[in-house]
Amino acid sequence: MSKIHHTVGQPLAHESARLHVTGEALYTDDLPEQQGTLHAALGLSHRAHAAIVSMDLSKVRAAPGVVEVVCLDDVPGEKYVGAYVHDEPVFADGHVQYVGQPLFAVAAVSHDAARRAAQLAEVQYQDLEPVLSADAGAERESYVLPPVRISRGDVQAELGKARHRHQGRLYCGGQEQFYLEGQVAYAQPGENDEMLVYSSTQHPTEMQGMIAHMLGRPLHAVRVQCRRMGGGFGGKESQSWPFATAAALLAWRTGRPVKLRPDRDDDFMITGKRHDFSASYDVSYDDQGVIGAVSFEQRLRCGYSADLSGAVADRQVFHTDNAYYLPAFDILSLRVKTNTQSNTAFRGFGGPQGILCIEYALDDIARRLGLDPLDVRKRNFYGVDERNVTPYDTVLEDNVIHQLVDQLETSCDYRRRRDEIRRFNADSKVLKKGLSLVPVKFGISFTATHLNQAGALVHVYTDGSILVNHGGTEMGQGLNTKVAQIVAEEFGVGIGQVRASGTDTSKVANTSATAASTGTDLNGKAAQDACRKIKAALAAFAADQYGCDEQHIRFQGGQVHCGNRVIPFRELVQKAYMARVPLWSSGFYKTPKIHYDMKTLTGRPFYYFVYAAACSEVVIDTLTGENRLLRTDILYDAGRPINPAVDLGQIEGGFIQGAGWLTSEELWWDEQGALKTHAPSTYKVPSVSDCPDHFKVEFFDNGNTENNIYQSKAMGEPPLPLAISVFLAIRDAIASVAEPRADIPLDAPATAERILQTLDAVAPGRFSLAAGTRVEAGMPAETVELSAEPGGGTVQ
Ligand code: MTE
Ligand code: HPA
Repeated sequence: MSKIHHTVGQPLAHESARLHVTGEALYTDDLPEQQGTLHAALGLSHRAHAAIVSMDLSKVRAAPGVVEVVCLDDVPGEKYVGAYVHDEPVFADGHVQYVGQPLFAVAAVSHDAARRAAQLAEVQYQDLEPVLSADAGAERESYVLPPVRISRGDVQAELGKARHRHQGRLYCGGQEQFYLEGQVAYAQPGENDEMLVYSSTQHPTEMQGMIAHMLGRPLHAVRVQCRRMGGGFGGKESQSWPFATAAALLAWRTGRPVKLRPDRDDDFMITGKRHDFSASYDVSYDDQGVIGAVSFEQRLRCGYSADLSGAVADRQVFHTDNAYYLPAFDILSLRVKTNTQSNTAFRGFGGPQGILCIEYALDDIARRLGLDPLDVRKRNFYGVDERNVTPYDTVLEDNVIHQLVDQLETSCDYRRRRDEIRRFNADSKVLKKGLSLVPVKFGISFTATHLNQAGALVHVYTDGSILVNHGGTEMGQGLNTKVAQIVAEEFGVGIGQVRASGTDTSKVANTSATAASTGTDLNGKAAQDACRKIKAALAAFAADQYGCDEQHIRFQGGQVHCGNRVIPFRELVQKAYMARVPLWSSGFYKTPKIHYDMKTLTGRPFYYFVYAAACSEVVIDTLTGENRLLRTDILYDAGRPINPAVDLGQIEGGFIQGAGWLTSEELWWDEQGALKTHAPSTYKVPSVSDCPDHFKVEFFDNGNTENNIYQSKAMGEPPLPLAISVFLAIRDAIASVAEPRADIPLDAPATAERILQTLDAVAPGRFSLAAGTRVEAGMPAETVELSAEPGGGTVQ
């Protein structure tokens, strides 16, 4: 940590920590309700793919307490919305495309009345055949966007002449964002056709645009505010729109404030999730496991509309190399259209899916050669001066993966533990352990170059207190805390003197989503720019007043150092005000150096990379299929962290969220395309007890080679794919019972059921019930014949 910083670099508490724990923090649903507020609910499709033959809403309209019912015909402006492609009708347009699609919205005098009324619709459907999986859609060439392919070299020739060649496949499930605060919007009509919408959204500007276009109003007539979210995780990047637009439309029609807060099950049914995908690969390698050529076909289940799927799939392609040089490659990315929720952003945004592809294949290579996977990984790492060009033609300039992985390998005692685990597995009949060390290289910037911009507004008041507003949104990640630290650092005042206010489209216009881990990079720089403009005005004034050199004025310790004079910040501000010096300013930032051709997927899409690695040790119970994460060590290149306490929380939280994705969080649709795991009763997110007892996170000592804000690096998404180490450790544990060099066909998430199935596939009959044994309810345990002998205890 640089000694010259006072507030930046300090492990300060989250600016709302006290409010969070006392319950005083105001979320959208906590805002005081205006008199006459109505409550809304959405009526949802019960079919995955069908023509709507008739929709009779008379019983909905007649239900007690109902004030208004709207469907697509009532939309006065644009009837279709969408993040990039406008392919999403505000309400179903003659046919339905997934179970859960909103058909209409109802406003009533209470939340309960609206929800009851929404159940009374009489809809007749004519069923059409649904496409439910990525594989089924790919077979029919059903796409939301055209396929994308990038390649280098003659891959087929390289594969053909290789000494070793392996063809494999994997399937990886999706993930529900499971924000603690669900989706919610509260629309308040104002004078002269104005509309104010409080929306729990990561993208207030996009909500403003969608509402304005849907109402046929100019953007200046619609204002969207968000003080904070109780989590977004990408699920509120674009998909806050069904709630924001329906609340605004009902408010428009009734002239009354309308709040729409779906219950958790409806939230699950309506909104998209992380993309699940299947991938097949064909890879060649030498005796040392060094890859010669690789081809991937990635099939992403996008759901019924494009939403952000194009950018998600691009990011999957961009992360399929992870930390490895691929001399020859061919990556085909299929963006498959299905009759399911429109899958969307989720922390990592396709990056984790890309990284999983190559890590899975590398594991196969190591196992087939009988080598340690870490050695194979290291041999394939990007070089520093050679073998350093990525599949998208960026030359890596900041690669620290070698040093970082070496450091973690030593500090976590990888080699000794590998031997220890081998001995443990030889002795233990039921419990088997596994170990895996996985590196991550994660590109930072929005891949759509124009989104890499931000604005801020800083006000210095005459008592020396400072208010900062910026285009980013606070979702628990500590963005406002870090931006306040940056502002305090710039003015050399204490953090208590700075307050960050809620996001508001009427304060900073045309903002990007808070996403792609860029919140602090973009908004911190914009706030810094605003501060520096104010400081320049104050310094010019001070130099003039006190006759010192303007260039050497310092703002530090609540004071302004001007030659030999030391003036309290507050005093200087007051004097400047009296002299009519402007004490507020806007600031702007656009990320330099980036450029990227969306057609060829080449250029420099990322300003810099975050490097990290995790080593995880697991134990599985071969009788029950349960698994437990015993130990994780993480080394993370955060540059110079702006707030090591908040940043540590981001790494721990992101990692555990990733472990949930790959082990316990299973989304399951029935054959009619209805999502059946739509509540915590059937969908298992990790809890605190799933954290390993040994959970050590350390920062790698590094700067940022680029001029990022205070030499820091992003924190939001890169920790999540580190959890691939947990999944591969489970695969390693299963491998301990298989024939040497056997493939381990484990799909994700590694639920108990999947672990048992895989054990059975690699060691038939050894871990399943003995052939012919039927288990019936009430059967005494000893009559159930198990072919694995008990021993070694069970997973606690
Ligand atoms: N942390 C919390 N507590 N809640 C969240 O919703 N979202 C994640 C990450 N960390 C999230 C979070 C996602 S998806 C992203 S892209 C980043 O925060 C966004 O914030 P940042 O860019 O300010 O890091
Ligand atoms: N990452 C995350 N979110 C995004 C991106 C991206 O590259 N593009 C649009 N939203």
